[in-house]
Amino acid sequence: MGASIIDGRGRADRLCAELAMDVAAMIAQDNLRPTLATILVGDDPASEIYVRRKAEQAEQVGIRSLRFRLPAETDTASLLGLVAGLNADPDVHGILVQLPLPDHIDRAAILDAIEPGKDVDGFHTLNAGRLALGVTGLVPCTPAGCMILLADHLSDLQGRHAVVVGCSNIVGRPLAQLLLQARCTVTVAHIHSVNLPGLVGLADILVVAAGSPGLIRGDWLKFGVVILDVGINRITDPVTGTARIVGDVRFNEALDRAAAITPVPGGVGPMTIACLLRNTVIAARQSRKRTMFTNIPGSAEHHRSNMQEEVIS
Ligand code: GUN
Repeated sequence: MGASIIDGRGRADRLCAELAMDVAAMIAQDNLRPTLATILVGDDPASEIYVRRKAEQAEQVGIRSLRFRLPAETDTASLLGLVAGLNADPDVHGILVQLPLPDHIDRAAILDAIEPGKDVDGFHTLNAGRLALGVTGLVPCTPAGCMILLADHLSDLQGRHAVVVGCSNIVGRPLAQLLLQARCTVTVAHIHSVNLPGLVGLADILVVAAGSPGLIRGDWLKFGVVILDVGINRITDPVTGTARIVGDVRFNEALDRAAAITPVPGGVGPMTIACLLRNTVIAARQSRKRTMFTNIPGSAEHHRSNMQEEVIS
């Protein structure tokens, strides 16, 4: 057992402490209090816990939190109406719609209705496109947290082979883009990949977000690999009958080969919330810049908005 255990909770606490200082300075110097609106539709117990944690931790760092809880029968039009109202409110800087949404709601329409500058999840098509092009935008929270943990544990990412297992829009795809930007060689695999063990065995960096408990075995791993386990799976122990949370990687087996590995829980999970709060602070700062620019005649932003009016009229 040689691997060091990556303390995601401790790292997230440090990031939140920095954010609390940033927020205090924004309030004192700019009279700007970052505000995050969270929307939960329905009563999925796991989502309830996640949203409550997000809102509570926002408040702990000084971010104002507005919580909207809607019944499961809410339709797409009503949700679009709520999002439109929050988009129009200059005192709201970040909007988060907790996923999954009930099946009858048009998820893509909702995510793309959020003003891109308030899209603190980074799920809007425009922000996803910006990320794919390597242009600044709001970056999805779990991938952002993964990159912070990797930067802490590897002096240089350039040229390393990163294997991402899982290709969701929330984790796998955006993370692959960030790893490419960091000049890694990136392989994106998933549970249907042919020869998954062989692909995993190529990894200097392995990030697993497949939602499949214990998918990755210890004897698949290259010695010295750095592993981030994004999986959060609730299983019932067949022997004791008690429920517990496990990742996608067989942690005890991986300890013999990995240089470093995140535990589950206490690894990547806490970083996701910390990065959400960081995005809210970034969005609040940017909102103030946008207001300043549009108020300065002759500025690029002012020019652009005038052009837009001309095109529309
Ligand atoms: N559901 C699971 N993860 C996430 C996330 O990062 N953001 C939102 N909005 N919903 C989720």
